[in-house]
Amino acid sequence: MTKMRIIVKKNEEEVSEEASNLIINEIKNKEKFVLGLATGETPIKTYAKLVNAYKQGDVDFSNVKAFNLDEYVGLEPSDVDSYSYYLHHNLLDSVNVNEENIHLLNGETIKINQIAKDYDLKLEKNGYTDLQILGIGLNGHIGFNEPNSYYDFGTHVTDLSESTINVNKRLFSEQNKMPTKAITMGIGSILKSKKIVLLATGSKKDEIMDKVIFSNQITPEIPATILKLHKDVTIIMDEEAAKTYLKKAGTERENIN
Ligand code: F6R
Repeated sequence: MTKMRIIVKKNEEEVSEEASNLIINEIKNKEKFVLGLATGETPIKTYAKLVNAYKQGDVDFSNVKAFNLDEYVGLEPSDVDSYSYYLHHNLLDSVNVNEENIHLLNGETIKINQIAKDYDLKLEKNGYTDLQILGIGLNGHIGFNEPNSYYDFGTHVTDLSESTINVNKRLFSEQNKMPTKAITMGIGSILKSKKIVLLATGSKKDEIMDKVIFSNQITPEIPATILKLHKDVTIIMDEEAAKTYLKKAGTERENIN
């Protein structure tokens, strides 16, 4: 197992600052850069900081290809609750990523399995992502790779767990509109990313971060534990999400891997 690099920052603001600086440095160092985007509440400020940096002239996205992690099945890209809408609204419409370089999963139900296959081919053709931003679900999901008895490696359609439905419906314009299925990049594609940056903020993430960091097992029941197999993972957490980690880090450091 490899060591995950763990950075603890004071609060969400500082987590977002650290994450956006890291992303900017990576983009600057490459002629072509494939960026994997997460959605959800956690990266919103990071994206705002990327937009700010672009407006200040500190970063140029013309060399960036954007792929996203997941999408709800049954929502059109123009739907305000879709992840396509979220990414356009929070990042893509405000920076100079070329339209032809934006590759977002489309959750419209027709031909969804074909969409999954095409997405895997596109990822492969582009050499997978150079940097994949991840959030984490309270149940340990990454993307919408939900706890399961096995890992799904390719892009696939999945039933959302009860926990995810309960947690995520807060973000919907009408709660009963939340789909129960999603399409998600698989664990294999996530692991093929050259660099992974996982963000976690707030006390609600403390328990799962403790489980992921200190678990001696890699288990699809806590999907994020598979990140221990990747050679370049950086976890950026705020003090609330890192509460148990900070308590244990002194005494159980040898178990962190
Ligand atoms: C979203 C995604 C999910 C979220 C996770 C945490 O694209 O892949 O895995 O990262 O559900 O969501 P928030 O950030 O809302 O706590």
